Amino acid sequence: MALGKLSVLISVEQIRERINHIGARIDADYPNHAETVHLIAILKGAYVFMADLSRAIKRPVTVDFMGISSYGKGKTSSGEVRVTKDLDTVIEGNHVIIVEDIVDSGVTLTYLLNLLDQRKPKSIKIAALLDKPERRLRPINAAYVGFSIPDEFVVGYGLDYAEKYRNLPDICVLSEEDE
Ligand code: PRP
Repeated sequence: MALGKLSVLISVEQIRERINHIGARIDADYPNHAETVHLIAILKGAYVFMADLSRAIKRPVTVDFMGISSYGKGKTSSGEVRVTKDLDTVIEGNHVIIVEDIVDSGVTLTYLLNLLDQRKPKSIKIAALLDKPERRLRPINAAYVGFSIPDEFVVGYGLDYAEKYRNLPDICVLSEEDE
């Protein structure tokens, strides 16, 4: 398929407004305002969202990153997931928020929740900028969702096609070039 036509689905202004709202909710949702929230971004796609979300939160935050690779994602319901970069920090006793760019089948987050839960965080929630509910194979309950989107191929704001387009400021649909 010849991909190449970009059209803006969610603008940088819409993203900024929504993230500010999510940041304010995170500030309000944890009763003790002095308590730190530990943000864990899943590489690579979530790096841009992490940078903006962390700055939209006023309470103390710490950040860490995790690398995940999945095989058969989107093709089989049993996509095999493995950790390619583990956390640098211990999360036991911490309020954790997993920061994801997109929830698709839900296979990655199901695996991660299971794995991180075993490390005994005080609480664990999900913040996902984008959600494609039509694609879901595993139920996921994300506390914070930026936008629910249709099943289109989206790039930009951290999301890629063959590693390209991550640096686009808007979230765009990438479709076939018109002949
Ligand atoms: C994407 C996204 C999530 C995962 C979601 O990562 O960042 O981690 O897929 O899909 P799922 O709900 O079907 O499991 P991707 O594998 O594209 O890697 P990248 O973030 O490094 O581009």
